[in-house]
Amino acid sequence: MYAQMVKSTGNQVKNLEEMEPDERAFQTRINADIKIEAKDWMPDGYRRTLIRQISQHAHSEIVGQLPESNWIKRAPTLERKAILLAKVQDEAGHGLYLYCAAETLGISRDEMTEQLLAGKAKYSSIFNYPTLSWADMGAIGWLVDGAAIMNQVPLQYCSFGPYARAMVRICKEESFHQRQGFDIMMKLVGGTKAQKDMAQDALNRWWWPALMMFGPPDASSVHSAQSFAWNIKQNSNDELRQKFVDQTVPQAQHLGLEIPDADLVWNEDKGSYDYGAVDWDEFFAVLSGNGPCNAERLQARQKAWDDGAWFREGLTANAQKRAKL
Ligand code: 3HC
Repeated sequence: MYAQMVKSTGNQVKNLEEMEPDERAFQTRINADIKIEAKDWMPDGYRRTLIRQISQHAHSEIVGQLPESNWIKRAPTLERKAILLAKVQDEAGHGLYLYCAAETLGISRDEMTEQLLAGKAKYSSIFNYPTLSWADMGAIGWLVDGAAIMNQVPLQYCSFGPYARAMVRICKEESFHQRQGFDIMMKLVGGTKAQKDMAQDALNRWWWPALMMFGPPDASSVHSAQSFAWNIKQNSNDELRQKFVDQTVPQAQHLGLEIPDADLVWNEDKGSYDYGAVDWDEFFAVLSGNGPCNAERLQARQKAWDDGAWFREGLTANAQKRAKL
């Protein structure tokens, strides 16, 4: 299945000589590392790419609250509950900064939500997996937020000003999230055998989906070439995946846990780890809506949207009334 889905990226990125004057001036600014702001002229493709990526990123933050909120009521201590609650609230804030950044490009938050609910906009594959034990709160913070930071730190330096600026605070908060997850894992591995087994089980289930977060392999990443040219992306999916593996394996060793990959081995020549084959069939199945929790996640978002209708109508009615005064 994966082989059939791999498309040649075929993305022809124009060089400066092939561009119309507006586009050439735009690309020259990007090449000089000057930020593009919302009111600046931009090619339609740049606008579309940013709306696609930022809105999907925002949806990921919002949908990403669901697997963890499942454990707020069952956190083992009051302190852990307060920390988890704060983390989940942070994710809501991230979603809002990102929706605001996307709105500067001429799309409304309602339209973005409608695209999500209609299955036209994606959100990160990782949030279609279930949270089965408290150790999953540790594994999500450590691995999922860890992978998110790896991908998002470069986005602070991307060419679109509102996105780059939104990412500064998000990265700071994700860093706290990663540490709280690692702290949960530390506590569990220092506990009873049952607690350590729970931590290992969580690592076993979240490791491969965390590697998938970085996106398809470079050879089948349809958007990368153009996103590099526009300085939306600075590192390829495979580069960031490799960095994540290299950073995380020593952390697992410190925890005394085993990465569930029989092919994982240090490669002295390249100065990084070789790792086993990611199951890209599983990744594409999740993207097509067939992950373990896709239906549940979208139902939860649909319910929140329906339940909030009275509030949105109230806000609009008030704005309309004020406009008439
Ligand atoms: N899950 C879902 N869809 C994914 C995906 C993933 N893990 N990785 C790639 N895709 C999708 C792309 O969106 C694209 O689909 P589309 O054409 O319908 O939009 C398709 O697969 C092809 O992938 P490409 O590599 O060509 O796409 P990109 O160049 O956009 O690269 C990306 C993918 C690296 C995820 C990039 O979009 C990106 O950096 N996005 C911003 C970061 C982001 O969205 N992170 C979400 C992580 S979760 C999070 O932040 C919450 C935190 O609290 C943990």
